[in-house]
Amino acid sequence: MNILAFSQAAENNRGPIAQILRETFADVRNVLEIGSGTGQHAVYMGQCLPHLIWRTSDLAHNLPDIQARLTAEAPANVMAPVALDVAMQSWPVTDIDGVFSANTLHIMSWTHVTQLFRGIGEILCEQAIVCLYGPFKYDGKFTTPSNAQFDLWLKQRDPLSGIRDFESVDALARAQGLHPVADHAMPANNQLLVWRRG
Ligand SMILES: C[S@@+](CC[C@H](N)C(=O)[O-])C[C@H]1O[C@@H](n2cnc3c(N)ncnc32)[C@H](O)[C@@H]1O
Repeated sequence: MNILAFSQAAENNRGPIAQILRETFADVRNVLEIGSGTGQHAVYMGQCLPHLIWRTSDLAHNLPDIQARLTAEAPANVMAPVALDVAMQSWPVTDIDGVFSANTLHIMSWTHVTQLFRGIGEILCEQAIVCLYGPFKYDGKFTTPSNAQFDLWLKQRDPLSGIRDFESVDALARAQGLHPVADHAMPANNQLLVWRRG
């Protein structure tokens, strides 16, 4: 028996995320997920949002785990994963009108975060929606003491990682013609940030 890669956090947050994406992605048809991880979000969002195509992606070494989960559980509107490192000059997707990424910005370096926005700026259609889920700081402050501890833990693991400032992320988004439309407070001290282009 193959054991699928599993994240308890993804299992816990998928319901609250789907509740918001149902409305936010109501008119979206072609979503790119960046950093699909275990594939759990892809399977669940594909089931909850049958009107759209959900395109999975991640660093090349993660693709077999994602593919295994999709083969076991995914509905037909979830596409096989493509290798996508946000640092790639040319991204292997086009005509995307929705982007979703969960728990990636605090794992990547800040250089990678800037490359993520440059990349999505290239592939997004007008009126596209971008949704980023995870912990953020506001005015340089953590939203909770546990997020401050999480940030310390992240930096011990990788000094280039860490919880990002909303204002700095928003500036990168605005530089790509995206304007903020919502900031949803989510369980476990996370946010779901939404931007729209055009
Ligand atoms: C903490 S995991 C989150 C996985 C999943 N989105 C979730 O919420 O369970 C971070 C993900 O970011 C991906 N990642 C890290 N650096 C990346 C990069 N440069 N380009 C694309 N994905 C990257 C990792 O491979 C991993 O899948």
